Amino acid sequence: MSGLTFKAMVVREPSKGTFTRSIENKTFDMLPPGEVLINVKYSSINFKDALSSIGNRGVTKKYPHTPGVDAAGVVTESTDSGFNPGDEVLVTGFDLGMNTSGGFAEYIRVPASWVVKLPPNLSLRESMNYGTAGFTAALSVYKLTGNGVTPDQGQVLVTGAPGGVGSIAVSILAKIGFSVTAVNGVIDEREYLLKLGAKEVIGIEEATDREGKILLKARWAGVVDTVGGPILATAVKSTQYGGTITCCGNAASHDLPLNVYPFILRGVSLLGIDSVECPTGTRHAVWRKIASDWKTDHLAEIASEVALEGVSEKIDLILQGKHRGRAIVRID
Ligand SMILES: NC(=O)c1ccc[n+]([C@@H]2O[C@H](COP(=O)([O-])OP(=O)(O)OC[C@H]3O[C@@H](n4cnc5c(N)ncnc54)[C@H](OP(=O)(O)O)[C@@H]3O)[C@@H](O)[C@H]2O)c1
Repeated sequence: MSGLTFKAMVVREPSKGTFTRSIENKTFDMLPPGEVLINVKYSSINFKDALSSIGNRGVTKKYPHTPGVDAAGVVTESTDSGFNPGDEVLVTGFDLGMNTSGGFAEYIRVPASWVVKLPPNLSLRESMNYGTAGFTAALSVYKLTGNGVTPDQGQVLVTGAPGGVGSIAVSILAKIGFSVTAVNGVIDEREYLLKLGAKEVIGIEEATDREGKILLKARWAGVVDTVGGPILATAVKSTQYGGTITCCGNAASHDLPLNVYPFILRGVSLLGIDSVECPTGTRHAVWRKIASDWKTDHLAEIASEVALEGVSEKIDLILQGKHRGRAIVRID
């Protein structure tokens, strides 16, 4: 491969604090060391990629850099016996796209431990419909159901429901028989959420307790929270005896204004969700669920597709809060 070039989006910092994005030709020796070289066919755009592209040092420390925390493609070279040229694979999370050259490129080179073989019944493109957001949604449902929440126990709440994680969580939960109450975002997306399978849509006001009571009427058998803050606190205080709440995001706030009573009087469980360092066994199990009985019928409604050249424009929309659902990137 030496001497050959491939196409990649590159974020540069031409002067301190100013960042540019362009499509450039990179050489293979610009990729980091790693056991598996992958010819990327699809990627997807997440909020973290938008942050990386504007110089957020919490995500990316050094520039020039190629963002893209998700990638799906075909193995070209592997020094790990677990992978062979021609294998269809995906990578989400770990350091991909943060300080490791990411999925907005025709090639990535990564450690074998990051690579997941594409499960049967899922195409490369479909896997990126999910990407990190969809994997996080599925991991939340995996933990919720793994902790004993079943459809016969009552309604489940999904907060930040129109977002990338929330919309896929609504769709998976509805598909496996849960009665889902979806919390709208700032913009009214009622029709969209009902189409995804929600039974009921409530607004931010209804989902937020303003009275500061220590416990509220028990409404939810389970909760998938993506927003944090007062909405998560309200959800915990409104969860039924023995119910489970998952917490993956801070779209509204990183604070959690809560007391201990829901835990010590109702025995509810609050489970943390991390998609980035998620252990291999769980990671593979969740992708297998995504590819089989949790495969949502709503991929077309949730995702739109752009070529590598269209990524920059999508990133601008995401940064302005004007993008809904998932954006897949077609690399070829
Ligand atoms: N733990 C992990 O591994 C992991 C992985 C992926 C993502 N995340 C996190 O999960 C969260 C959701 O990610 P995403 O990709 O779904 O983001 P997203 O697409 O931006 O969606 C966020 C949702 O939250 C809503 N929202 C924003 N501000 C709100 C507020 N003040 N009150 C109520 N709702 C509000 C938005 O509504 P509008 O659309 O109306 O603005 C939108 O529906 C983010 O915090 C992200 O960082 C965590």
